[in-house]
Amino acid sequence: MKKYKVAIVGATGAVGREMLRCVIQYHFPFESIKLLASARSAGKTIEQDGLSFVVEELTENSFEGIDVAFWSAGGSISEKFVPYAIKAGCVNIDNTSHFRMDPNVPLVVPECNSEDLKWHKGIIANPNCSTIQMVSALKRLDEEFDIERIIVSTYQAVSGAGVAGMRELNDQTRAIINNEPVVADTLPCASDKKHYQIAYNCIPQIDKFDLANAFSKEEMKMVNETKKIYHKDIKVNATCVRVPVLRGHSESVYIETKKPIDIDKAFDLLAHSTGVELVDDIANQIYPMAIDHIGSEKVYVGRVRKDLDNDHALSMWVVADQLMKGAAYNSVDIGLKMIEMGLL
Ligand SMILES: NC(=O)c1ccc[n+]([C@@H]2O[C@H](COP(=O)([O-])OP(=O)(O)OC[C@H]3O[C@@H](n4cnc5c(N)ncnc54)[C@H](OP(=O)(O)O)[C@@H]3O)[C@@H](O)[C@H]2O)c1
Repeated sequence: MKKYKVAIVGATGAVGREMLRCVIQYHFPFESIKLLASARSAGKTIEQDGLSFVVEELTENSFEGIDVAFWSAGGSISEKFVPYAIKAGCVNIDNTSHFRMDPNVPLVVPECNSEDLKWHKGIIANPNCSTIQMVSALKRLDEEFDIERIIVSTYQAVSGAGVAGMRELNDQTRAIINNEPVVADTLPCASDKKHYQIAYNCIPQIDKFDLANAFSKEEMKMVNETKKIYHKDIKVNATCVRVPVLRGHSESVYIETKKPIDIDKAFDLLAHSTGVELVDDIANQIYPMAIDHIGSEKVYVGRVRKDLDNDHALSMWVVADQLMKGAAYNSVDIGLKMIEMGLL
């Protein structure tokens, strides 16, 4: 089997660390792994599964001889450096939002639309974390019942804002317990004007707002990316909320379908969907919770129930570790799928 020279860009970040773990633990066939980050991290050592790596500074020349690069250093970094990687002949799987809606770039969740990998031109985009777990959970239901509309509310962990988001929740919680002043400088959006306390709080803003339609950019990612992945004009209404959870996004998802819902069939489909695990036994108070699925590559679905008034509607609770299924694992899975399809 061919082995690949791999690079991970943003390797010191919340997603990048999981990318390294996924490449090794999910057996991506690597010959070498180059870890890249900013000049601040150059020379730093990262250990994973008994292997030791020295982080290098990302430069225009980092990709000579690299076969495949996994990117998670932010949109502006991908925008600037991916063209150099393409010039060097490297295939790029990008976790940032920069290329996602580019019509020349496939946006892929392997169990939903792996066929789109066939028309890549050197870049494959990894969707937004909240989108991935939702479209993955709903894929088989859409095939069976034809979803027309999704209404989703998210409960998103602070690690969605990277290492800084986790630090902020931990620091604020410690400060509150020790009766010290609370400092807020990262959430809801590091580059925005105002910052709010996340400890013991929920913030109904993720990313900046589009003042023209009153939705946040995170909400619009769910709207637009779902259409691109499902190849249909599906209606999506999203409310994205940051909650004081360290890791793992939860979503309350309501769907309206063209065909009436057969609830037994719905349970059967969810129980046999690729990458999805049904955790639903309300008689014994069993349902998915973020804290139970840290580090897992799966999407967990529970609280599945038909709408009381609409025969064409269903509600459910969808949980995933967004650093894994929503980012690192989905990216590595794209790479593995490309090898399986003879595209890498
Ligand atoms: N967190 C999530 O749940 C999630 C999910 C899906 C997608 N994403 C996307 O993935 C990307 C990274 O997110 P994250 O949460 O991992 O952020 P993070 O924890 O803040 O990590 C950012 C990474 O980017 C590197 N970086 C920053 N500036 C750089 C530069 N000038 N040159 C090279 N490397 C640079 C950092 O290196 P240093 O340590 O050297 O600064 C670090 O490795 C973002 O685009 C985000 O939207 C995140």
